[in-house]
Amino acid sequence: MPSVAQQLIHWHEHHGRHHLPWQKSRDPYTIWLSEIMLQQTQVTTVIPYYQRFLQEFPTIRNLAQAPLDSVLALWSGLGYYSRARNLHQAARILVQDYQGQFPDTREVIQQLPGIGRSTAAAIAVFAFRKREAILDGNVKRIFARYFGISGYPGNAVIQNQLWQKAEELLPLNNFAGEIETYTQALMDLGAIVCTRRNPLCGLCPLKRDCIAHAENTIAQLPTPRTRKPLPQKEVIFLILMQQQKVLLQKRPPSGIWGALWCLPEIETGSDVFSFCQRQWGLAIESSRTLPILDHQFTHFKLRIHPQVLHVITDASAETDQFIWISPIDALDQAIPAPVRTLLTQNVLSDVSHG
Ligand code: ADE
Repeated sequence: MPSVAQQLIHWHEHHGRHHLPWQKSRDPYTIWLSEIMLQQTQVTTVIPYYQRFLQEFPTIRNLAQAPLDSVLALWSGLGYYSRARNLHQAARILVQDYQGQFPDTREVIQQLPGIGRSTAAAIAVFAFRKREAILDGNVKRIFARYFGISGYPGNAVIQNQLWQKAEELLPLNNFAGEIETYTQALMDLGAIVCTRRNPLCGLCPLKRDCIAHAENTIAQLPTPRTRKPLPQKEVIFLILMQQQKVLLQKRPPSGIWGALWCLPEIETGSDVFSFCQRQWGLAIESSRTLPILDHQFTHFKLRIHPQVLHVITDASAETDQFIWISPIDALDQAIPAPVRTLLTQNVLSDVSHG
């Protein structure tokens, strides 16, 4: 009976992905970039971002020397911008403390900002052929089903069980770079076959011994998180328009939406007109309330009350922190998802209709 690793490696030969752009390379920098982009984003979305990023910043040194703003702008639309901030910070650390050389052990890679154990392992495998186990969300799902492990995989006890399985299943030797094929096979199985909803068990190389398949518990595994309702915060977002430009405000460098360009935000119940007058010397000629927009963060929900305001005065209000920008150009900047939604759905259509 072939081992699980052997079955996966065999499956990968004909059914896995072989031509992803980052598979051509052994450069730890480009592999690192791909793994970070792929953390919360699908392959087809990532590919053009990956290529543009490497064109602009072909080496760690180029990335380290760039201003954060230009790194964030290349991330525009990918979301989860803390990935870009961490990437940039890690590049600076690599140049300052490691002479620009990427470390080659999982333990050291894992010290860098934004790189957890599984991502560090993936880099160590693909760049340095190290025998390390990965355990990202997709792999947790595969193992929870295959071994019939119930309980939320984010829970420390369950997570430890899964890590132990991940270590045990590694190919025993590493002839011919088996570890890379095995690791890629796990990723591909999770993305293509053992998907969260409607998995294609008929195509799975592991179904014979899969406990969830045998016990018909695929739909229940992995166990979802049970959580308390999140607290909700409400704010007004100001969409201030002047000569077809919108006012954006740079967020502080850390915290929610750190260093992103955002619509100015004020407390609900504030007097919007006098706020604009006081803050920027802007007189408003008309205002329109848009439908509520809800946005969910990990730890709270944000209920956004958007308000479009047309400005009469020709005031600039521009500083390092504020810009008047055409909505089209704003979409090329690093902006949070709800700001993108508001600009796309409301302002762009207004502008194009005159
Ligand atoms: N998801 C995370 N890492 C990946 C990789 N290297 N290839 C495809 N999908 C992935």
